Amino acid sequence: MNPQATLRLLPQGLRVPLRPDQTLLEATIAAGAALPSACRNGSCRACMARVLEGTVRHRIAWPGLLAEELAQGWVLPCVAVAQGDVVLLQGPSPFALPGAAA
Ligand code: FES
Repeated sequence: MNPQATLRLLPQGLRVPLRPDQTLLEATIAAGAALPSACRNGSCRACMARVLEGTVRHRIAWPGLLAEELAQGWVLPCVAVAQGDVVLLQGPSPFALPGAAA
């Protein structure tokens, strides 16, 4: 990863520096601009956001996302790391799971 990679967080427009060993959530916490979160292990979906630009991979094989969400660029920042500069739109998925908080 570019040593000066950044995460741009929308709609706030905040820019957060990224380190290769940090998840996207950890980077926002370190910058004092934390995303919503709860489990921090990729299961509760509280941190859900959509990648608008850049490449992100999940650290776990089965993050708590639907196939449709993955295909549309939704990620779980608590278990996701960037492969370079990333633009992330914070917000809930349009695919609400039964019993899940929106
Ligand atoms: S904080 Fe629970 S999935 Fe990210």
